[in-house]
Amino acid sequence: MKKKNLFLGLIVGLIVLIGLSGFAAKKETGKLVVGFDASFPPFEYLDEKTGELAGFDLDLMKAIGAELGMEVELKNVSWDGIIPGLLTGNYNVIASGMTITEERKQVVNFSDPYINAGLVIITPAGETGIQSPQDLAGKQVAVQINSTGDLAATEMQKDQGIKIAAIKRFNSATDAFLELKNGSAEAVIMDLPVAGAQIKANPGLYQIVGEPFTTEEYGLALRKNDTELLAKINKALATIKANGKYDEIYH
Ligand code: ARG
Repeated sequence: MKKKNLFLGLIVGLIVLIGLSGFAAKKETGKLVVGFDASFPPFEYLDEKTGELAGFDLDLMKAIGAELGMEVELKNVSWDGIIPGLLTGNYNVIASGMTITEERKQVVNFSDPYINAGLVIITPAGETGIQSPQDLAGKQVAVQINSTGDLAATEMQKDQGIKIAAIKRFNSATDAFLELKNGSAEAVIMDLPVAGAQIKANPGLYQIVGEPFTTEEYGLALRKNDTELLAKINKALATIKANGKYDEIYH
């Protein structure tokens, strides 16, 4: 009799456990876990006044989450490991000002583009020696590691015969700008909106040289097999663009 009760208890316990784990799994898939590197104002940054994570990408993901009825969890991670972190499952979406590139498309899927940007050269205000990419020959150039700015500088050096003296690669975009501020670099290559935000935050310090020399589009990145979630996100993105929510966030 005792044995029988123990057995029954075990069975009931097992059923409860299976039920609970199923519930947990369901909850997990109902969540948008968003990875980003918060060193990239105005897209993602730590707002020093409020101590909160803020920016266009985060507002966009919150709007998409609301549209899909999904909870949004934010994960601030380092840019350099951002794609590996997605692939290992630390989050299920990257929203980090990430340019859609052919190379990245080999490993992740991108959403429909959500913003246009391009790369610019930034120099100390008043400097006149650098007017074009060619003028970066002999100069120290700061970039964020593994960004399209890094890629562009590397291509200039390798393929376009522009003899950049050194490409200084930093973990964060803000650190690349600090190098310019310190006088340890003579130029930064960065996305135009981010350059604009740095200039605004540091009046009289930096200037943008000419026009963007690339055209780029940002996309949200997902794992290749998450096609269902990707379709949902694209649909939500379209809705937000159509109903004015996107414009509200943009402005
Ligand atoms: N748009 C550039 C790229 O895709 C830079 C993005 C950097 N984003 C960031 N949150 N740090 O490479």
